[in-house]
Amino acid sequence: MDADTPQNPRDADPLPLSAEAVVAAHAALKEHLFETPLLPSPDLSEACGASILLKAENIQRAGSFKVRGSVNKLRKLAERERVEEVTAASAGNHAQGVAYAASRLNIRSTIFMPEEAPLAKRRASERLGAQVRIAGRNYDESRAAALDYARDRGVPFIDGFDDWDIIEGQATIGHEIFHDLGDRAPDVVLVPAGGGGLLAGVLFYLRAVYGERTRVIGVQSDRAPGLAESLRLARERGASGEHLPPLEVATRPTIADGIRIGRPGVRPFQVIRRWVDDVICVDEESIYEAIVYLYERSRLVVEGAGAVGVAALLERHVPLVPDSTAVVVISGGNIDVGAMQKITTSHLYKSRRRAVLRIRVRDLPGQLARIVSIFDRLRINVAEIMQPPILGRPPSPEYTVFDICVETEGETHIPDILHALEEERTRMEEEGVEPFQILER
Ligand SMILES: Cc1ncc(COP(=O)(O)O)c(C=O)c1O
Repeated sequence: MDADTPQNPRDADPLPLSAEAVVAAHAALKEHLFETPLLPSPDLSEACGASILLKAENIQRAGSFKVRGSVNKLRKLAERERVEEVTAASAGNHAQGVAYAASRLNIRSTIFMPEEAPLAKRRASERLGAQVRIAGRNYDESRAAALDYARDRGVPFIDGFDDWDIIEGQATIGHEIFHDLGDRAPDVVLVPAGGGGLLAGVLFYLRAVYGERTRVIGVQSDRAPGLAESLRLARERGASGEHLPPLEVATRPTIADGIRIGRPGVRPFQVIRRWVDDVICVDEESIYEAIVYLYERSRLVVEGAGAVGVAALLERHVPLVPDSTAVVVISGGNIDVGAMQKITTSHLYKSRRRAVLRIRVRDLPGQLARIVSIFDRLRINVAEIMQPPILGRPPSPEYTVFDICVETEGETHIPDILHALEEERTRMEEEGVEPFQILER
C-alpha cells in the first residue's frame, strides 16, 4: 500500500474514527507540533535480537504526546463554535497539553489540579499560559471542580482520553510511524496505556494500514491495570463480554503516574477490546530500570509512563522473533529532576557501580585526610563521605568510623578495590603506622 493512502479497518463503521480523518488531523496539527523521530536503538536491538525503534514523543512539544489530542480537540471545537475558554482537570501531562493547545489557538485555559500536584507541574502549565486552580485532594475531586466550573460558566470541559477527537489526535503517531516505515510493517508496536486514548488511536490507525501484519500491545503499570483487567474479563466472557464497559480498579502510587488511571475510557475501550493483541503489565522495578536504560544508552530523558514499553522488552514480556522489528512509543519525558536523581542514584548502588566501605580509623587529627589520599593514590573516586549514626553499641572513644562511598566499574571491580586497600594496610603496618580497619562493605 502507498504510504499516504491508508484504508479503514473492516467493520469499523460504528466508530466515529477513520484513517482518512487521522491523515487530515495530522496535516492540520503539523504547524503546532513536532513530527518526532523514530530512533533506532542499537543497544536494545542487540539485547532483544530484533530491530528496536523508539518513537520519541518525550521530545514532543510540552514534553509528551498529549498535545496531539489536545490541539486536535480544540481546533475541532473552534471550527464548530466560538470558543473563548476551555477547562480540564489533571495533575500532569494533560494539563500541559491543554494549556499548550489553548495558547496556540488563542483560547484561555483554566486547569484544575489536585493539592498533591507537584509545584513543577503547576508552574509548567502556567508557563504555557494556563490559569491553574488547586481544587481537591486527588484527581477525582479536581475533575468534579472542573466539571462544576464548566457547567457554571458554559465552558467546554476537555477530557484526557474518553473523547473521539482526542483519540484521533493521538492516532497521528500511528500515521507518522506508517509514514516512516511505509510497507515495512513493524511486527510489534508497544504503546503505554492508562485511560487508553493513546493506545486506541495508534491501534486503530495501524490496524487500518497494516491489518494483522502488526501486533499492537498496550503496556500498563501493574499498579494501575485497568485496561488489562477489563480486557481479560471481556475476553473471558466471549461474545457476551462484547459490550462490557471498562472496569474500575484500585490503583497504587507508581513512578508511571501518567498512566495511573482507575477507570479507562469507555470510547478507547471500544477500540481496544476489538483490535488489540494484548495488554500487559510491568512492575515498578522494571520501570526504574527502563528509565535508567533509556537515559544511559539512548540519551533520552523519559518519565515512568513513557518507559513502560522498554520495561516490557527488558523484562522479556514480549517474545520477539529474530530479525523482526518492534516500535516502542516513548510517550513522555516530563520527569522531575529530583525523581530522576533518586532513580539514577538507587540504580548506581543496586548495580554496584557505587559501593559503601565502612572504615574505622584512630581518632586523631589528619586521619580522614590520610584515608582520602590513599583512595586518591589508588585512583578510586570517592563520591561521598558520611559518618554513620551511633545506634546500639556506643563506639570506642579511641576510634572514629566513616562510610566512604566509592565509584566502581561494577560488581567485579570491588574485589580489586578491596585487594588494593588490603595491600595499603599491610604497607602501613610494615611502616609502623596504625592502619585503618575495613568493618563492612
Ligand atoms: C507520558 C504518558 N504516557 C501515556 C499516557 C497514557 O495515555 P492514555 O490515558 O491515553 O492511555 C499518559 C497519559 O497522560 C502519559 O502522560
